[in-house]
Amino acid sequence: MQPTGATPGSPGAPVRKVTVPDIRAARAGGRRLVMLTAYDCPTARLLDEAGVDILLVGDSLANNVLGYDSTLPVTMEEMLHHTRAVVRGVRRALVVGDMPYLSYQTGRRDAIRNAGRFLKEGGAAAVKIEGGRRRAGLVRALIDAEIPVMGHVGLTPQSVHLMGGYRVQGKRRDEVRTLVDDARALEEAGIFALVLEGMPEAAGQAITEAVTVPTIGIGAGRHCTGQVLVFHDLVGLGAGPAPRFARRYADLNEIIGSAARRFIQDVRDGGFPSEAEIYTAPVSAPRAAVARRGPGWRS
Ligand code: KIV
Repeated sequence: MQPTGATPGSPGAPVRKVTVPDIRAARAGGRRLVMLTAYDCPTARLLDEAGVDILLVGDSLANNVLGYDSTLPVTMEEMLHHTRAVVRGVRRALVVGDMPYLSYQTGRRDAIRNAGRFLKEGGAAAVKIEGGRRRAGLVRALIDAEIPVMGHVGLTPQSVHLMGGYRVQGKRRDEVRTLVDDARALEEAGIFALVLEGMPEAAGQAITEAVTVPTIGIGAGRHCTGQVLVFHDLVGLGAGPAPRFARRYADLNEIIGSAARRFIQDVRDGGFPSEAEIYTAPVSAPRAAVARRGPGWRS
């Protein structure tokens, strides 16, 4: 999974893309995988240049960017729009498109068509679907259609109403056994990696030990092959407190709020724009000459 001939981030240099087989092989190679969500081009570019392995265009787009209060309302069109933006910012990382609610639950034909759109129209290299063994047949059908699939078990946000809220899963022994069986069924069906969300560390460990594909944890403890965080949790952006499992590496709420407050103050005080922030043109310049230069001119 090393870039060839370049460090991630050196502009213009050739970069070897991370592939699905690279991810599958990471575990045997003893490499801890790093995945983050991304929803737009400039953020994807920064995270890619920083060296993340996988960028997930998560259906958490719904809550983190589009202002919905769960992941359920986000549509295929919205997901594709943001996937294309992310792909435009990425040179190295594997981009995975997250199948939104009702894009795959309504039957194989719908699922293949929608998953295929992530690859064909969105430019992603793989898709992620939520659910355990009852998705195994669907995983096979997608792979038959040449679409690599990442699985997702545990706290699956699209099942929020069935779970009765966003509840940690796998607290009881029988629940852990069910999760392990789910993970094995998905592995047998051909997934290349498995997200484990919202479960006690012991459950994350039991699942990781039961399968050979890499597991990527979010609130699933330290024994997973890799870790994923939602970008907004990583950088402290958005409403509400961070979930217990998230580590905040920055406080963008404060940085952005403070920038906006300083700008408001400067405009109201007459301190913005300054001499250095204005264009000047000779007063005698004929209007037509200025107009001909068109938009975006600089002097
Ligand atoms: O949509 C998302 O952000 C996810 C991650 C929590 C894995 O599915």
